[in-house]
Amino acid sequence: MTDLDTIVSLCKRRGFIFQSSEVYGGFGGFWDYGPLGVELKRNVKEAWWRAMVQERADIVGIDGSIIMHPQTWVASGHVAGFIEPLVDCKRCKQRFRADHVGGEVCPECGGELTEPRWFNTMFKTFVGPVEEDAAVAYMRPETAQSIFVNFKNVQVTTRRKLPFGIAQIGKAFRNEITPGKFTFRSREFEQMEVEYFVKPGTDEEWHRHWFQERMNWYIRYGIKPANLRLRPHDPDELAHYAKACADVEFNFPFGWSELEGIANRTDFDLKQHAQYSGEDLRYYDEEQKEHVLPFVIEPSAGADRSTLAFLLNAYEEEPDKEGSRVVLRFHKQIAPYKVAVLPLSRKENLVTVAKDVWARLRPHFMTTYDDAQSIGRRYRRQDEIGTPYCVTVDFQTVEQDQAVTIRDRDTMEQIRVPIAELVDVFKEKLA
Ligand code: GAP
Repeated sequence: MTDLDTIVSLCKRRGFIFQSSEVYGGFGGFWDYGPLGVELKRNVKEAWWRAMVQERADIVGIDGSIIMHPQTWVASGHVAGFIEPLVDCKRCKQRFRADHVGGEVCPECGGELTEPRWFNTMFKTFVGPVEEDAAVAYMRPETAQSIFVNFKNVQVTTRRKLPFGIAQIGKAFRNEITPGKFTFRSREFEQMEVEYFVKPGTDEEWHRHWFQERMNWYIRYGIKPANLRLRPHDPDELAHYAKACADVEFNFPFGWSELEGIANRTDFDLKQHAQYSGEDLRYYDEEQKEHVLPFVIEPSAGADRSTLAFLLNAYEEEPDKEGSRVVLRFHKQIAPYKVAVLPLSRKENLVTVAKDVWARLRPHFMTTYDDAQSIGRRYRRQDEIGTPYCVTVDFQTVEQDQAVTIRDRDTMEQIRVPIAELVDVFKEKLA
């Protein structure tokens, strides 16, 4: 595993991730995805959606609003309970989360810390033109709540029977006291959450099912099993809504840390929303002829943390003729670009054919084009951003055989393929 600084600098240099508002000196806890990063993160989200929604018969998706009725957050317990203990250093004035620093003295300068003050990490805003208490609303700190308040809408419109799940990918916001470790802890981030509704009594079995499902998903998309583990929470770590929880953890350069939480939320949320809204959110079980409030198993993953884990996991540096080559060995479906088209030189006849090849591939695959510097350098540039295949157009292509060379990122093997067959060959290779 490489160190975090290497990945941060690769991300900036190649256009994966930039500091937000960099021209103004950046803005703590906010990040922008550049041309490569946006593709990478989209692929992570699509791989999740494919596995959770498309391939399963028992999960449907929604896309809820970020700002919800403020009562949502009273009912969910976030207004009262989404709080963190804040301490200040009396000497250097730095601010920390008390549970992160643990000890009595400042980790930066050794100074004395203040008593903890409790601080709600939901971002507040005002809806409508008047900035008064009655108009206060919150930026959602988790996507889950719009799933809970839509439980009945979705169940009725899709005529689902238990067990079934509702999935959502979307932004969440937390005014973290100490954002950091690159995108790992940000103030604006994206979650990929499933709320899986089950009959009470079957919840523990489903909880175990989801542990396995989610571990398998990361491995399917190339996370090395040695970099992953499942860690059950101690009772004193549990969120206010959870009966049990286990985290999927990744072996980050700063230690094993949470990628995803898989919680048994019981019937807590539906019960709270039923009580605060006055709506009956129970499910009618036609077999048992009774109304039940479903229990919920929640696999809740972070799109940004997963993206960072995919980057770290893929990074390899290996010796070669020119010193060393850096390769991001992304799974093909995760890689930002699938193919790079490279004319051997900038001779006009080569460039014309190469641009034609690029145009043929673009409708089918995310494809890039590069004609600057030596072919060896260009292969290295594509290796460094994880492009699985390079296509080289050379003199033989234009003068003799209308065929091109495909070079494989991982094996570095080269094969010759007629241009006319290129799309089909890549459809097979990238399937
Ligand atoms: N609905 C449950 C929930 O929100 P969580 O453990 O607080 O649970 C779930 O968050 C996931 O969201 C985390 O595992 C992490 O991947 C991501 N996440 C949470 N806070 C984050 C932050 N400040 N920055 C980046 N990702 C975050």
